[in-house]
Amino acid sequence: MTLTELARAAEEIWAQWEKASGGVKTLEDLETARIQILGRKGRLTQLFSSLRDLPSQERAEAGKILNALKERIEEALAKKREVLAQGAQWERLARERYDFSLPGKWRPLGKLHPLTQVRLEIEEIFLRLGFDVASGPEIETEYYNFEALNIGPDHPARDEWDSFYLGEGVLLRTHTSPVQIRVMKERKPPVRIICPGRCYRRDNPDATHSPVFHQVELLWVEKGLTFAHLKWVIGEFVRAFFGPGYEMRFSADFFPFTEPSAQVHIRKKGTEKWLEIMGAGMVHPRVLEEVGYDPEEVTGFAFGLGIERMAMLRYGIEDIRLFWQNDLRFLSQF
Ligand code: PHE
Repeated sequence: MTLTELARAAEEIWAQWEKASGGVKTLEDLETARIQILGRKGRLTQLFSSLRDLPSQERAEAGKILNALKERIEEALAKKREVLAQGAQWERLARERYDFSLPGKWRPLGKLHPLTQVRLEIEEIFLRLGFDVASGPEIETEYYNFEALNIGPDHPARDEWDSFYLGEGVLLRTHTSPVQIRVMKERKPPVRIICPGRCYRRDNPDATHSPVFHQVELLWVEKGLTFAHLKWVIGEFVRAFFGPGYEMRFSADFFPFTEPSAQVHIRKKGTEKWLEIMGAGMVHPRVLEEVGYDPEEVTGFAFGLGIERMAMLRYGIEDIRLFWQNDLRFLSQF
């Protein structure tokens, strides 16, 4: 090959590229074109290897021609690549255009169990009135669950049928009242607590009974407390929880750990039916003595209410078992 032939072949490569470049529509086409010219077996690469056939005094001149061509082609490829890449991006953007009229994806949101919601609401009401939240064990001894609460061995509540015994003198607590004893033994008056928690009784499940249920206990012990204070606290609770459209009524009841004891009823104003909401009373002097308080010095009152019962009254739920079935059709309503 002569220098003239080489120069012509170089021009030919450029002409071919110019002709072909119009047909290069994608980045893949461009890569194919590049390989045809600059690849290991590409036309320009081959031309470079024919340099060695030239007489040595012509090689420098030929090298210059080929290097210039290589530079031009590389520049042309780069320019083309830029144009194609931009086009590809526009195309992608056009393809990925968002359709804001499509319905969104629905993700179900979990929520708190209705009993938890009611418990938190009750806690909130009493926290505002200055009560602390206390807690105690669900596995109790007869001493805390019964004896210290002035429930003698012959009291019907101690009957084996009412309690789940785990062993000699050890049982699942049947109410939250044992927490009263634990707290009073630990603190000096004034004591102002509520304690929410699970309780267990050997009841057959039906619409109004569940062997596992929740109570909130309230206890206030201080100098000079009277039944009027008890009535005020319960009145505040009824108003906050049920709303101003309710009235309440106390009737005599009996609990071994309170004296006097009462049952509290509420009624929607203008309706007939009274509904029981809790047991309450002034803490029995024997209970105060048991924890080392002086009944001549301090007095106190307590109540116990059922969280399930509060939720059932609030929402008009007629079967307590619904709380334990975990049926989302029920739970999702709260
Ligand atoms: N512990 C009683 C019950 O479970 C309720 C109660 C608590 C009554 C405090 C009076 C005072 O029925």
